[in-house]
Amino acid sequence: MEPLLRIEGVNKSFSGVRVLKDVHLEVMPGTVHALMGENGAGKSTLMKCLFGIYRQDSGRFFLEGEEFNFTDPKDALENGVSMVHQELNQVVQRTITDNIWLGRYPKKGLFIDEHAMYERTMELFRRINIHLDPGMYLNKLSVSQRQMVEIAKAISYDAKVIVLDEPTSSLTQNETDLLFTIIRSLREQGVSIIYISHKMDEIFTIADAVTVLRDGTYVGTESISEITMERLVQMMVGRELEERFPPRTNTPGEVHLEVRGLTTRFAPYVRDVSFSVRRGEILGVAGLVGAGRTEIAEAIFGIRTRDSGEFFIDGQQIQVNSSKQAKQHGFAFLTEERRRTGIYPVADITFNSTIANVTSYTNSIGWLIDRDMERDTDEQISRMRIKTPTRRELIRALSGGNQQKVIIGRWLLTNPDILLLDEPTRGIDVGAKFEIYQLIINLANQGKSVIMISSEMPELLGITNRIMVMSNGRIAGTVETEKTDQTEIFRLATLYLNNNKEAEV
Ligand SMILES: Nc1ncnc2c1ncn2[C@@H]1O[C@H](COP(=O)(O)OP(=O)(O)OP(=O)(O)O)[C@@H](O)[C@H]1O
Ligand SMILES: [Mg+2]
Repeated sequence: MEPLLRIEGVNKSFSGVRVLKDVHLEVMPGTVHALMGENGAGKSTLMKCLFGIYRQDSGRFFLEGEEFNFTDPKDALENGVSMVHQELNQVVQRTITDNIWLGRYPKKGLFIDEHAMYERTMELFRRINIHLDPGMYLNKLSVSQRQMVEIAKAISYDAKVIVLDEPTSSLTQNETDLLFTIIRSLREQGVSIIYISHKMDEIFTIADAVTVLRDGTYVGTESISEITMERLVQMMVGRELEERFPPRTNTPGEVHLEVRGLTTRFAPYVRDVSFSVRRGEILGVAGLVGAGRTEIAEAIFGIRTRDSGEFFIDGQQIQVNSSKQAKQHGFAFLTEERRRTGIYPVADITFNSTIANVTSYTNSIGWLIDRDMERDTDEQISRMRIKTPTRRELIRALSGGNQQKVIIGRWLLTNPDILLLDEPTRGIDVGAKFEIYQLIINLANQGKSVIMISSEMPELLGITNRIMVMSNGRIAGTVETEKTDQTEIFRLATLYLNNNKEAEV
């Protein structure tokens, strides 16, 4: 059988740095082809060359045997290739319909046929089982809903090849299942999907074949039915990864932070949540999406209005009504939506690493001390293995996962006492995850307290001391990590679901 898509010998450099070296890829018709590799391996760049966003320095593309080279994304879309980007790039002040048909509005004479546009969107949504009103404005949607709109848009082009670059990073479990149903039906229609993800379980669930890139070079292509997880990891990182988690060397001490009777004012609600964290403890927070985990962190950090709730540090009550106050009390908050709330895209790595901490880099007359900022930034770059030519690179030139590492580094530089980490390893590759776990454990070893929200059960079980399980805004139970397992956590996470079906929004 002939491949539907063939990529041959692609090379690409950015300002003299070669990020793709003679890469090739063959995708068979009607298959889901995973593209994997560490952060910065070149996955998104290769796909952007295909899609006409970047121009490769050399290399050829063939679709159904015909050579092509798209001049821009519009050209790609009109010729059978569509793509959902890792970073959402939507016009949020417009409606869903507008976003989907932007640049190709159905016309009635000289005018845009609003009615046809609406109807077509409804039809598309029905076909793929999305329940949203096409007239809604994007800024009224959650990130995951916006992601679903973007996926619907990619499908609306009747493409032969659809590239999905980390499509599930902000989707709920239900939405991910829905996406997989859509992907399977597209596959049956002969469409090929190029699927980029760092989530191993997804790859083994949905992919037929996998191609691995490492440092911009092609490592190999394997059929999913013939490859093990260990082998795949080894292809990606270039060595055996013996352990996925560093040893838990921290010992929790005295109670450090105590939260009493926390109830938030607006939905999604947190109801009467009380818990404490010890010095040197890593407290995991588990639960389904929408269970109120992020809201707890936001309330503690002073950025979510609460109806009630008292906070104590070392037994002393503290007032936290703004993020400024929270920082003064030694809190740091790594947000879940790093791309939206955390990144200054047109600034360089140094700025992005040190911004949360500027005051400590100013001398007595208020000048910034560049030397110190640069030294600390360089230290972060090497410690977190951030892949970049220099600290002067703009953060937006980094790969998605490497941008995250910069933001994580930023919060570590503020030398916080209590860390609120919301999905800290989302979008991070397997090798770098280990480094981040090690950093978290080191912080706990220094007596800092860590509250870690995560949807990845293995990592909660791998590095926390206790796990607090949220269900529908309430604490369903808190368990010792050593004495629990996935089944118990799942049971707790769904404990209060029957009373209220809204939990998974
Ligand atoms: N516009 C750009 N300017 C300069 N360098 C870039 C640009 N885009 C990407 N790079 C560099 O190319 C390399 C590959 O990046 P790419 O985004 O393709 O990685 P990736 O495999 O998608 O990683 P991730 O899993 O983190 O998304 C990185 O080192 C990145 O810094
Ligand atoms: Mg990428």
